[in-house]
Amino acid sequence: MHISIFGLGYVGSISAACLSNEGHTVIGVDINEEKVSLINNGDSPIVEPYLDQYIATAVKSKKLLATTDVKMAVMNTDISIICVGTPNRKDGNLNLNFVFDVVKQIASILAQKQSFHLISIRSTVSPGTIKKIVELVEKTSGKHDQIDFDIASNPEFLREGSAIYDYYNPPYTLIGTNNKQSIALFQQMFQKVEARFIVTEPQVAEIMKFINNSFHALKVSFANEIGRLSKQLKLDGKEVMDIFMQDTKLNISTYYLNPGGAFGGSCLPKDTRALMALGYKEGLSMPLINNILDSNDKHIKYCIDSIAALQVNNIGFVGIAFKENTDDLRESPMVIIVEALIGKGYNIKIYDNNVNASKLLGSNKQYIENSIPHLSQLMVHSFAELSQHADLLVIGNNNEELNGLLKGLDKKKIIFDLSGINPTDLYCKYYGVCW
Ligand SMILES: NC(=O)c1ccc[n+]([C@@H]2O[C@H](COP(=O)([O-])OP(=O)(O)OC[C@H]3O[C@@H](n4cnc5c(N)ncnc54)[C@H](O)[C@@H]3O)[C@@H](O)[C@H]2O)c1
Repeated sequence: MHISIFGLGYVGSISAACLSNEGHTVIGVDINEEKVSLINNGDSPIVEPYLDQYIATAVKSKKLLATTDVKMAVMNTDISIICVGTPNRKDGNLNLNFVFDVVKQIASILAQKQSFHLISIRSTVSPGTIKKIVELVEKTSGKHDQIDFDIASNPEFLREGSAIYDYYNPPYTLIGTNNKQSIALFQQMFQKVEARFIVTEPQVAEIMKFINNSFHALKVSFANEIGRLSKQLKLDGKEVMDIFMQDTKLNISTYYLNPGGAFGGSCLPKDTRALMALGYKEGLSMPLINNILDSNDKHIKYCIDSIAALQVNNIGFVGIAFKENTDDLRESPMVIIVEALIGKGYNIKIYDNNVNASKLLGSNKQYIENSIPHLSQLMVHSFAELSQHADLLVIGNNNEELNGLLKGLDKKKIIFDLSGINPTDLYCKYYGVCW
């Protein structure tokens, strides 16, 4: 394939070196003449293990050439990969000027080009950028999106210091486009990269770097807060986190990572509070841990506001326990949501067969009678009774019984889902809390 790469910094020089070593013909473009001549002399413009050898081999075999000539690069290639920098502005947003500058230059050359051209955005950009780039390219080149060109997102996941290894072993190859021709070009370009190939909407692909990197930052900060607390308590922070990491069922796993309802119950809020108290007692600053409960409260408020925004007076709650398959109501976010909506004057009924059972004899009987008698009065004994009352059904907890019941609901009902039911085969309106 014939590929041009714009921006020969960390990301661009790795992509240029790897793609050219695989046999593709690569033209690297940078405004920095020093970087261009370093590459043309077979040297690396950055310090990165093995990159020197890759560049030297590719330049010698004439598979890699660097230039400042945008026209030559665009006219002789079918794909342009954008790897220019996107630093933060003062307000935190990314400064995308380098991306728009380079795209404008490419677009002015596309005006003279007859064949289809793919522009792949490898720089980290904010969601919605590709939409703006499409407008810019159409305006500058006079060409048509999806016919003469496509702009796709293909974020880079390498880490400096192990960049070549990461290039060939990414967590996945992520492509944001709806264009079949582009997907085929990416498959061909990355045929030597053994990774799951995920194709999605451009905006989803664009936001993923922010999310992945923020999660990595969250992990480092969490480990360091636990490390500081451990040290203060004369414990070995490395041992503590090592044991933590050996729980690959709940800790280092996909568990607890689906958006939906807030957390609650008898353990997560209580023990988070206790960990915060330990830190306070030791005079330690642990801003991440100290804000977990606040974040959860904000989510509960968000759920309340989202339900209220639907402006439906008769509401039925399916599930009020803190999660499915339990009758435990202690610190249940559903209880807080229901109480807030009662306070706003909504007409509410609740169906939860686990809680109904424990109302009669379970260990929760006393809690229900003493702590939430007002909610107990709102409980009905069947889903049919609930749906007769409710124009809006809020799904707090998912369970197998629900699958069949929701399918039969008529078109006039509305479902608001906090728990991630599978919304196929529904006739009524469906809203998800985070989807
Ligand atoms: N560095 C990483 O580890 C890493 C990893 C993943 C993603 N990213 C993202 O990739 C992008 C590039 O990062 P980087 O670290 O390689 O940046 P960098 O600053 O090292 O390199 C950017 C290059 O672009 C060149 N450039 C600027 N304007 C240009 C133009 N009009 N035409 C041609 N070249 C131009 C600069 O001269 C520079 O050489 C950023 O969006 C970054 O967030 C970086």
